[in-house]
Amino acid sequence: MGSKVSVIGAGFYGSTTAMRLAEYNIFETVVLTDIVEGKPEGLALDMNQSRSIEGFETKIVGATTTADGAGYEATANSDVVVITAGLPRKPGMSRMDLIGVNAGIVRGVAENIAKHSPNAVIIVVSNPLDEMTALAQLATGFPRHRVMGQAGMLDTARFTNFVAEKLGVPVGSVNTLTLGSHGDTMVPVPSRCTVNGAPLTDKLSAAEIDELVTRTRNGGAEVVALLKTGSAYYAPSAAAARMAKAVIEDSGEVMPVCAWVDGEYGISGVYLGVEAQIGRTGIKKVVETDLSATELAELKVAAEAVRTKQADVQSL
Ligand code: APR
Repeated sequence: MGSKVSVIGAGFYGSTTAMRLAEYNIFETVVLTDIVEGKPEGLALDMNQSRSIEGFETKIVGATTTADGAGYEATANSDVVVITAGLPRKPGMSRMDLIGVNAGIVRGVAENIAKHSPNAVIIVVSNPLDEMTALAQLATGFPRHRVMGQAGMLDTARFTNFVAEKLGVPVGSVNTLTLGSHGDTMVPVPSRCTVNGAPLTDKLSAAEIDELVTRTRNGGAEVVALLKTGSAYYAPSAAAARMAKAVIEDSGEVMPVCAWVDGEYGISGVYLGVEAQIGRTGIKKVVETDLSATELAELKVAAEAVRTKQADVQSL
């Protein structure tokens, strides 16, 4: 039987993720759900009608779900589930301001997924990301390697875009990395950044790199401020869809993701942005990279910051 991915939440993030996943033409079915009646069905109908133009066979199925879990049958036995349900930020809000309301949403969604797709790999994107990932693992009771969050790929892609624009070079020639949390304690890793293989530090001054790092850290807020309503979704959905693709293809690709860290970097017992090898079982392995003393210290600060918040989510 072909593979199946479900995307929970048919807002901007969810619908663009579903569309990208369908266009990969590697899944048999993409299921899109929402609590707004008719919205996922309507979007699925629209997406299916693009199949002959774009040339993909993946079938998109829309399903409305209710608070008591009706409608989740459509997602049954998914191989991968992407959780996008939840409120986005408004201008001036931090991701953390969403924690109360989104925790309730993500908990309910996770419980229903656990019931209908007990073997799925879960990719969480709802904010605040690190906390919602920890909560989804708690609520499903899934092994930790089967629950991960999307943040690092997006933050890294933003950093790469800023570096490429600043230097006037193709994005393909730039490699960057960010670790840590998807928030104030994001840890850009300039020591791992290169342009055409040469260290970024050869191309830009420390002050210039700092400026791009700050813009990356505030990358989401910059988009929110311009949109005035809603938050970013094109780059975020590209990142989430790539992660789901790596899972289903068992690619073994190393990506920056939010993963359970258990001893790596001397950090234990917390969901944190790190590089990890992704495959059919979810996180195959957290990959440690060489960090400068400052970068490692910042990663440890990020770990403690999210540890405190993740401890709080248990009671939400
Ligand atoms: N089950 C399914 N869908 C839900 C539920 C639920 N329990 N609760 C809310 N939703 C749906 C909403 O009806 C809405 O269609 O989630 C969707 C959210 O869509 P948008 O408001 O467009 O938000 P979006 O930009 O997609 O962001 C979703 O991702 O980046 C994060 O911070 C962002 O937490 C937010 C999430």
